[in-house]
Amino acid sequence: MIEGKIVKVSGPVVSADNMAGAKMYDIARVGEMGLIGEIVRLDGDVAVVQVYEDTSGLKVGEPVVCTGEPFVLELGPGLLASIFDGIQRRLTDIAEMYGDFVVRGVTTDALPRNRVWAFQPLVDVGMEVVEGDVVGEVQETTHITHRIMVPPGVSGRVAEVKEGEFTVDEPVVILEDGTEIRMYQTWPVRVPRPVKRKEKPTVPFITGTRILDTFFPIAQGGYSIIPGGFGTGKTVTETTLAKWADADIVIYVACGERGNEITEVLTEFPKLVDPKTGVPLMQRTILVANTSNMPVAAREASIYTGITIAEYYRDMGYNVALMADSTSRWGEALREMSGRLEEMPGEEGYPAYLATRLADFYERCGRAVCLGSDDRVGSITAIGAVSPPGGDFSEPMTQNSLRITGAFWALDTSLAHRRHFPAISWIKSYTLYLDQIEEWYRKNVAEDWREVRDRAMSLLRKEVELQEIVQLVGPDALPDFAKAILETTRMIREDFLQQFAFSDVDAFCPLRKGYLMLKVILTYYDCLEEILVQGVPLRQATEHPIKNEIARMKEIPSEEAEEKLTDLMQRVQTELRSLAEW
Ligand SMILES: Nc1ncnc2c1ncn2[C@@H]1O[C@H](COP(=O)(O)OP(=O)(O)OP(=O)(O)O)[C@@H](O)[C@H]1O
Ligand SMILES: [Mg+2]
Repeated sequence: MIEGKIVKVSGPVVSADNMAGAKMYDIARVGEMGLIGEIVRLDGDVAVVQVYEDTSGLKVGEPVVCTGEPFVLELGPGLLASIFDGIQRRLTDIAEMYGDFVVRGVTTDALPRNRVWAFQPLVDVGMEVVEGDVVGEVQETTHITHRIMVPPGVSGRVAEVKEGEFTVDEPVVILEDGTEIRMYQTWPVRVPRPVKRKEKPTVPFITGTRILDTFFPIAQGGYSIIPGGFGTGKTVTETTLAKWADADIVIYVACGERGNEITEVLTEFPKLVDPKTGVPLMQRTILVANTSNMPVAAREASIYTGITIAEYYRDMGYNVALMADSTSRWGEALREMSGRLEEMPGEEGYPAYLATRLADFYERCGRAVCLGSDDRVGSITAIGAVSPPGGDFSEPMTQNSLRITGAFWALDTSLAHRRHFPAISWIKSYTLYLDQIEEWYRKNVAEDWREVRDRAMSLLRKEVELQEIVQLVGPDALPDFAKAILETTRMIREDFLQQFAFSDVDAFCPLRKGYLMLKVILTYYDCLEEILVQGVPLRQATEHPIKNEIARMKEIPSEEAEEKLTDLMQRVQTELRSLAEW
């Protein structure tokens, strides 16, 4: 056993000598209390350890023991509906989040050891199995079946299979070479879990939020960032997506935000009901929580804990959504650790490797054919909130994230101030997934989906130009056809883009309903243009009461949307055109 002595303590970073033989990223137990830490630098026989727990009271001369093992997670049934801290310790009671939230130096079993699970085998004695093969199933929660897989690197012929109720510690399948397969496996968090191959993402990640699904959609297996200043709606967007988006499993990493905000998430989530199944949302959710008052090194780890659990469920063939709020706090943890390690600072004090770390993280997402002989396909879609100080998008975290992510959902402070929610800017946001998923939309939503979307988008861009003119010469100077554009874009903004996250009917908008709503507005615009040419004064058209019906489209229940909106579209045409007949 390698045991050294503390020679220096600098906040969460502890140096110990006499550590020859220790490896990078090994876990070390630090001090008399056995605080948990990870070796991040080796210099001769001095090991530098980043400690995941509060180091106050630690003294020079106290022992440091290297465990010889990296930081691994336990992956198996019992993960769902759990709340973990950054190093996968179970947080059972929210009260524990405050003060002495976990007694220092304590390790808890990530998966309950006393709970039994009904194991349903899917292999027989004599069968050959390879890594990733599903050997059996466990009903983890009401709607989620947990597939027990052969761990990566293991293969062989089945010698013994059990059936019945077992704890995660008991072997359920034994191979001829004596290898025991249990219901859980362990995996080092810093190593991506292997897959057979990555697939091109071509299926959209449906969010139910109109501006995202229509203008800036991403693919399942894609990743997007939500940058936004203080109070612009990052957390509301993340939680709305966690609730509504098209994912089998949600991993929510609450990273370094204020304690009270996370408590809100922690108390709110268990109460939420899954709109798809009617059972508590937690049944398909895992929370990883690290508040700003918890040790900074564990915050750095929480992102890896989140993505590793996500990979594990992806390996079962599930579509997983990973929400991280906020990646900026993770970046700040990296910066603090780097400063303590006296590394050469890069831009604004962030370490030079910030971009690589971010890229490494987001690259672990994607749609993949999983290990195993049955070619299961699973995906991880990641949505990372970014909190740029002062809402200034030119800072390093936003810029570095922007370079690697496929979509950018920019929150706009002035929209939030005007209470235009979601405050996602249609001018600053973008997506790179449009071309990949267009085909899917054409087949499943409408043949002209892309044209409708692009037309609405170009009208919104046109609005920006027109508003500049209005500021110079005033609105009266504009010709009627330009005013018709402004009238239409006002409708797009108010009657289509605004969507109240807490509304019963409108919190989730199906793709087809969103498409039809937009089509109604564009039909209105086409008719305006048509009758203006025929000499009808614009005011006569814009005062037509059918406008009020357009304003209430959102309130139409999803199941009636097809009929009511098609009808509305027709009436918009006949009623506006009838104005020209006079
Ligand atoms: N889609 C929405 N629908 C309705 N209200 C919203 C929406 N988005 C944001 N809001 C309003 O904005 C407030 C602030 O949102 P939120 O807490 O998500 O901001 P934030 O960006 O996470 O802030 P912070 O920087 O403090 O973390 C919410 O309490 C809510 O009132
Ligand atoms: Mg927030």
